[in-house]
Amino acid sequence: MTGATVLRCESCGATYGDDLPHATCPACDGLLLAEHAPPAVRGAELRALFDSRVVASPGSARERSGVWRFRELVLHAADDAIISHPEGNTPLITRPAISAYAGVDDLVMKHEGHNPTGSFKDRGMTVALTQARRVKARAVACASTGNTSASLSAYAAHAGIPSFVFVPAGQISAGKLAQTIAYGARVLPIDGDFDDCLRLAREAATLGIYLVNSVNPFRLEGQKTIVFELLQQLGWQSPDWIALPAGNLGNTSAFGKALREARSLGLIDRVPRLLAVQAAGAAPFAKAFAEGFVTHHRVRAETRATAIRIGDPASWDRAVTAITETDGRVVAVSDEEIFAAKAVIDHAGVGCEPASAASIAGVQKLVAAGEIPSTARVTAVLTGHLLKDPGTTADSLPATLSYAAAMDVLRRVAG
Ligand code: F0G
Repeated sequence: MTGATVLRCESCGATYGDDLPHATCPACDGLLLAEHAPPAVRGAELRALFDSRVVASPGSARERSGVWRFRELVLHAADDAIISHPEGNTPLITRPAISAYAGVDDLVMKHEGHNPTGSFKDRGMTVALTQARRVKARAVACASTGNTSASLSAYAAHAGIPSFVFVPAGQISAGKLAQTIAYGARVLPIDGDFDDCLRLAREAATLGIYLVNSVNPFRLEGQKTIVFELLQQLGWQSPDWIALPAGNLGNTSAFGKALREARSLGLIDRVPRLLAVQAAGAAPFAKAFAEGFVTHHRVRAETRATAIRIGDPASWDRAVTAITETDGRVVAVSDEEIFAAKAVIDHAGVGCEPASAASIAGVQKLVAAGEIPSTARVTAVLTGHLLKDPGTTADSLPATLSYAAAMDVLRRVAG
C-alpha cells in the first residue's frame, strides 16, 4: 500500500513518499512528519475495528502486536514486510500504595517495561525496522542512553540488517549494554555524552546509514500506540492526565501527535493533559516551560536516571506543540524524588527503572502543588523494566551473612 503515507519536512515544507531512504529531510536535514491517508472509517466504527483486533486471529503477527493493531494510524505495510516480535499489549496496573504516595485515588500505571526488550522503545523500533527493510537499508544506526540501542539491536537482528550504536562510554547501565551486545549490534562507546553520540549518529546518516533515533518519523508512529492502547484499555474514556518521563522528547512528541489524531478521528472526545517530567539535572525543557517557551535551552546533563541524561533534546519543537496543544505541564524532579518514587513502585511489587519513576514523582509534585486534584484520573507511563538498571538497586544489598547469622535473623523474625 505504498503511497498511503506522505513525509513532510517541518522545516522547509518539502514532501516525500514513504519509500524515502533517509530519516530526515534530504534537502535541509529538518525533521519529517508522517501523514497517513485517513482511515476509511472514524469515531465509533474505528474504535470497533481496533477493538475487534484485540481478540482476532492469534496466527497473524500484525493482529497480535499492540502496535500493528493500529496500523491505519502507524504505517501501511504489507503483512510479510512487518518486523514484529510482537510487542505492545502492556498491562495497566493499579496499586493502592502508589496511589497513596502520589496523592491521587485513580492512578493507573501503563507498564511499558513489559515489552520484549523491556522498554517502550520496541513500539517505535518495530516500525522503524519494518521501514528500514522496505527502503532496503544496508545498515541502521542510533545514539542511545541504552534502551534504544537494546531495542535496535534486537529488531535489527530479526530483520537481518547490520546495526551500529553510539553510546556514551561508562554512562549506560550494564543490563542495557549486555542486551545490545548479545543481540549482535556493533557497539561504539564514545568519549562524550548522549548529545555527542546523537551528533555522530546524524553524521553516520550522511554516509547512507539509516538512522533510527526518534528523529526518524516512523519511530514516533510506533510510539503513538502507547496512547492508543491505553485509551483502548480505558474503554476510550480519556484520563485527565497522562504523565511520562522526558529526555530527548521523542515520546512527548509522539504522545502529542497520537492525541491530536485520536481527537480528530473521533476516537476520543476530550484530550487528556500531558505531564512531561524531567530529571532536575537534565531539565532544559522544564526550564523553558517555566519561562513560557520563549527560549530553546541546552544544558550539560547530570542525573543518576541515566536513560534521561540528555541536555539537548532533538524533538524540542514538536514537544512544545504537544504540551501547548494539550494544555500540558513540564516539571523537573530531583534524583532524590525519583529514587523515593522508585522505592514505592518497587516495594509495591511493580518495579521500574529509575527514569520511569520520574512520572510518579512528577504526579506527586503537581498534586502537592495543588495543580492536579486528588480526584483526577491519572495515567502514568512506566517506560522501562526494573532489571534494566539493577546496579542502582543492588547497591543497597546487605553485607554477606554466615550460615549461623542467617539462622539468627530467621529466629528473630519467627519470634
Ligand atoms: N524512559 C526511558 C526508560 C528511556 O529510555 C527514555 C529515553 C525516556 C524515558 C525518555 O524518552 O527520549 O523520548 O523523551 N531513552 C533514549 C534511549 C534516549 O537512547 O534509550 P524520550
